[in-house]
Amino acid sequence: MSRIYPIGGGKGGTGKTVIAANLGALIAKQGKSVVLVDLDLGGSNLHTCLGMRNPRIGLNEFLNKTCKKLDQTVVSTAISNLFLVSSVNCSLEVANLFFAQKQKIIRAIQRLPYDYIFLDLAAGTNFNTIDFFLASNEGLFVFTPEPTSIENAARFIRTVYLRKVKQVLKQRAFLEIVREIIANMKDRNANVKSSDIIEALTEKDPAKGKLLLERLSAFRFKLILNQFEKKIDENLGEKIEKVCNRHFHSDFQFLGKVSYDEKVHDSVLSSRTYVTKYPYTVTALNLQNIVDKLIGKDQPVSDRYQRYHE
Ligand SMILES: Nc1ncnc2c1ncn2[C@@H]1O[C@H](COP(=O)(O)OP(=O)(O)OP(=O)(O)O)[C@@H](O)[C@H]1O
Ligand SMILES: [Mg+2]
Repeated sequence: MSRIYPIGGGKGGTGKTVIAANLGALIAKQGKSVVLVDLDLGGSNLHTCLGMRNPRIGLNEFLNKTCKKLDQTVVSTAISNLFLVSSVNCSLEVANLFFAQKQKIIRAIQRLPYDYIFLDLAAGTNFNTIDFFLASNEGLFVFTPEPTSIENAARFIRTVYLRKVKQVLKQRAFLEIVREIIANMKDRNANVKSSDIIEALTEKDPAKGKLLLERLSAFRFKLILNQFEKKIDENLGEKIEKVCNRHFHSDFQFLGKVSYDEKVHDSVLSSRTYVTKYPYTVTALNLQNIVDKLIGKDQPVSDRYQRYHE
C-alpha cells in the first residue's frame, strides 16, 4: 500500500516544495517508486524545482476529463523512480475547487500505485489545503524558525486538528452520544467547543472516550524545521513536538531540522534537485536523516556522509 504524505505549512515560503522534491529524490534513489503531486493549484511550481519546463499533462487533464485516470497524468522526471503530477495548466477557477472535485482528486490519489506519494500543498489554511492535508493519516509539516512562521504553524496545526476531531466525532460509533452531549450543552452554552465534547464524552462513556482518543492518536503529524541556522535554539523542534503532544490528542513527531544553505536557491536556478547537485552537504545530510526516519529505517547515517562530517 502507498504511504501518502501531504506537505503543509501555515506560512508561504517555508520550503514545502523544495522539501517535497528532495525527499522524493532521496527515496526514489533508494529504489522506491515515488510520485509528487502538485496541489498548490494557484501557485504551482514543483515542476520547476525538479528542473522541468511546463509538463504537457497533469491534474488539469484529469479534472477536464481528457484523462479518465489520474495515473494517466503522471510524467517521469530526470530521476528514475521519481514521478510528477503537475498542476501547472490548471486554470485559476480550479484553485477554488468544489467539494466533489476535491473528493475526486483525493480518491484518485489514494489509488495511485506508487510506494510513496507526496502532496505539495499551498500555504495557508484554506479549505482545499486542509482537506488535502486530511487525505492521509500522516502529514508532514514544514516550518521555519521565524516567530511568524511558528505562529502560522500553530494556527495550521490547530485548524487541521479541529477538522480531524470533527471528522472523528461524526463517525458512527460516536454520533448518538455526541448528539446527546451537544443537546445538553446547548441548554447552557451556545458555543460548544470540541475539547468540551471530548471531555464530556470521556466522562459519560469511558470506553467510547478511549476509542475516540485512539482514533485521534492514529493521526500523525511529522514536523520538519527548515532553513535552520546556528544562532537558533538547537532544541526548538523537540520543544514544539513536546508542546503539541501535550495540547493535542494526535501524535506529533519531530523528524529533524534542515539547515539553511543558499545553494538551495542555486539548485532551483540550475534545474536540478538540491540533493542531486550537492549530495555531500550538511543540508543534504539533514534531508537524508529525515528520509531514514520517515521510511522507518532509522539506520545510522551512511559512511559517505560520516566522512564528510569528520
Ligand atoms: N533549507 C533551505 N535553505 C535555503 N533556502 C531554502 C531552503 N529551503 C527552501 N529555501 C528557499 O526558500 C524559498 C521558498 O521555498 P519553497 O518554494 O520550497 O517554499 P514553499 O513553502 O513551497 O512556498 P509556497 O508557500 O509559496 O508554495 C525558495 O527560494 C527556496 O530556494
Ligand atoms: Mg510551494
